[in-house]
Amino acid sequence: MIEQVKKYIEEVRSFQPKTLDELEQFRVKFMSKKHGILTNLFKEFRNIPPEQKPEYGKVLNQLKSLVEQKIKSLKAQLEDQQASRTDLDLTLPGDSLAVGSRHPLSIVRREILDIFRRMGFIVAHGPEIEDDWHNFTALNFPHDHPARDMQDTFFIERNPDVVLRTHTSNSQIRYMEKHKPPLKVVLPGRVYRNEAVSARSHYVFHQIEGLYVDKDVSFADLKQTLLLFAQEYFGEHTQIRFRPSYFPFTEPSAEMDVTCTLCGGKGCNVCKYTGWLEILGCGMVDPNVLANVGIDPEEYTGYAFGFGIERIAMLKYGINDLRLFLENDKRMLDQFQYL
Ligand code: DAH
Repeated sequence: MIEQVKKYIEEVRSFQPKTLDELEQFRVKFMSKKHGILTNLFKEFRNIPPEQKPEYGKVLNQLKSLVEQKIKSLKAQLEDQQASRTDLDLTLPGDSLAVGSRHPLSIVRREILDIFRRMGFIVAHGPEIEDDWHNFTALNFPHDHPARDMQDTFFIERNPDVVLRTHTSNSQIRYMEKHKPPLKVVLPGRVYRNEAVSARSHYVFHQIEGLYVDKDVSFADLKQTLLLFAQEYFGEHTQIRFRPSYFPFTEPSAEMDVTCTLCGGKGCNVCKYTGWLEILGCGMVDPNVLANVGIDPEEYTGYAFGFGIERIAMLKYGINDLRLFLENDKRMLDQFQYL
């Protein structure tokens, strides 16, 4: 019996498996609870003559720990080998990286700014956190004037002088404080209003502001610039019309419509069968605004305009819910992959 156990010890010592499968077979052969060699040998213990028991027990335990050690070390070794083999398989296809896409609002903003750049406008930016002076007062919104209620404002409780800007018009003031005319600038940015979220309104959206101040700037300049912009952006057959309006910071003020981008003016459900779409607000910079930033209104005149980027993106891509712009749903964003 003892001789038999010693043979097994030799067998275990020289065992050199090439795969984890072979090692598993080896484990079953020796360690299986039912018919494993070790189980059987331990059962034999009873039939060994008493004087041989100490030696038999010793070699048997030796065999047992040898099998255990062997399995443990070979398992780690074979797993390592297998892992490094897969790492080195140069024929495997690589992981493909998902290509990001540009956000539709970024696409539209870029296209619009490009058009104005070609017309000689510079691109600049103003702050989103603003004080009352730049968002309202300097823009000719008198204190307690109902015009302030045109835009529902986010105030900071501790300091009523600090607001989240309600429009990019604040950047007009900031820009004119720093630069002397002639100046010709477009100012894009994010704006905030205290409004309930729905398909048609949101508390955060984007605008582009335009401003041109020089000697002898007239309403005709404004009309021609905006006509050129509309035809560049919406197509050469686009027409525009102006309707009188009111903004505290412009006098006279107007709203501009373009012929419907979908039906071309014939009437459809996008333009509510009017043939026209409202696009922006504009006007001649109010002399009070120029005076507020130290520009002499006797010497200089200017025009300004402002519009929402979301509205234009919605018309361009047929998007009908404002919330889609901010939800970051990949199914929506992926549709702009190649733009
Ligand atoms: N600030 C206006 C708004 O948010 C838009 C606007 C109207 C801007 C007329 C202008 C302008 O510069 O001249 O509704």
